[in-house]
Amino acid sequence: APDSSDIRALVAPFMALEGPLLPILHAVQAEYGHIPASALPVIADALNLTAAEVHGVVSFYHDFRTAPAGRHVLRICRAEACQAVGGTALSAHLLARLGVDWHGTTADGSVTVEPVYCLGLCACGPAVMVDDRVIGRVDETRADAMLAEVGA
Ligand code: FES
Repeated sequence: APDSSDIRALVAPFMALEGPLLPILHAVQAEYGHIPASALPVIADALNLTAAEVHGVVSFYHDFRTAPAGRHVLRICRAEACQAVGGTALSAHLLARLGVDWHGTTADGSVTVEPVYCLGLCACGPAVMVDDRVIGRVDETRADAMLAEVGA
């Protein structure tokens, strides 16, 4: 885990901004892959907030992780067009197969599952994204093959 001087050094360049909290949190996550709990009091102190207030913001925005992500990130589209063509059942299948809930990471650290609201593939849903790759018309067979590919 980073120590407080690492976090202070990351925070410093943002202090002149108006509304520095979100840019700071993005910078911390870009550096560490998540927002370590140990960073909260340091950020809070720099901005004259309480650690609870910083935590509130971190948990409000689902882009921020409070734990490291798995080796692969699987984003499943939960927007309407995909839901209408089997997205809901596909989500249930994948979450059950992986034994996680939304935002969860498998016990072996292979995959983190995140919801996403439209991947621009509405005409060929259900759509998912595996790391940087967008895949359409995902049925359970394709989904299972995809999981095998990433070692889940
Ligand atoms: Fe799923 Fe647009 S609704 S890709």
